[in-house]
Amino acid sequence: MDRYAVVGHPIAHSKSPMIHEMFAKQTNQSLVYEKIEAPVNGFESCVTDFFSASNGKGLNVTVPFKERAWDLCADRTERAELAGAVNTLYLDQNRNICGDNTDGVGLVSDLKKHGVDLHGKKILILGAGGAVRGVLQPILKEQPEKVFICNRTESKAAVLVDVFGHLGKLESGPFSAFDNGNAGGENTNKECTGFDLIINGTSASLSGDLPPISSSVITARTVSYDMMYAEHETVFNRWASEAGASKTIDGLGMLVGQAAEAFSIWRGCSPETNEVMKKLRVL
Ligand code: ATR
Repeated sequence: MDRYAVVGHPIAHSKSPMIHEMFAKQTNQSLVYEKIEAPVNGFESCVTDFFSASNGKGLNVTVPFKERAWDLCADRTERAELAGAVNTLYLDQNRNICGDNTDGVGLVSDLKKHGVDLHGKKILILGAGGAVRGVLQPILKEQPEKVFICNRTESKAAVLVDVFGHLGKLESGPFSAFDNGNAGGENTNKECTGFDLIINGTSASLSGDLPPISSSVITARTVSYDMMYAEHETVFNRWASEAGASKTIDGLGMLVGQAAEAFSIWRGCSPETNEVMKKLRVL
């Protein structure tokens, strides 16, 4: 049977096997999908061993190996090339290891499912780490009016503007750009108001923290998207909701969306994701 797996460290809590098993059942495909915990110093050999078996067809890669997966690819898609990180590995006809990054497509498709079209919109992205880098190309491809990246370490946001700036209108700045010395008060800087969408791509939520940003960035038309997900509303989405956001969405749909795109790369068919989302929500 064709074999797939997700590789990470740690990996015990990954929902990927469950998601791909549901996709396989739904599309009548015969495959196995496992979890592999690679030792931190043994990721590369783990991948090459997996693909050296004739039934090793595809891997998902997660924390902390996405950049190392990028390094070991013989070929990459444009979006993976720019992201500097790979979450989906497959073999080409000559059995070379190739890489893609499906995180951004997962995010954009989830937003569309929620009725959020990015074309012509003003978007604020918080964070400038790997998670944000992975989604910028697919977001800019939707031709938003403007994307503003804000990060605690401002220089990292500026680097992203250098790398992705040719794809659309991209700017960066510090969190203080939004508070005018009056956190929570009225924001008078026109460039920094009126966002249609605010995306939290920081890892602050992992420790239950909020990015230090004034709630004045939220208006009644702002949709809040937290790339994190949790059983209960995330800290960030609770904050956005209390500040008056029109809608809040967590990252479970992004997780399922990136998996659906990987499945379609490997199997040539696109699974339906609504049913899978419903099942995951009640687990
Ligand atoms: P990931 O792969 O999850 O993106 P990362 O590359 O380590 O992880 O990036 C984490 C991001 O969250 C960074 O943008 C980081 O800001 P810095 O670049 O200044 O380190 C941001 N971050 C983490 N904790 C944060 C906090 N408490 N407040 C604001 N930003 C935070």
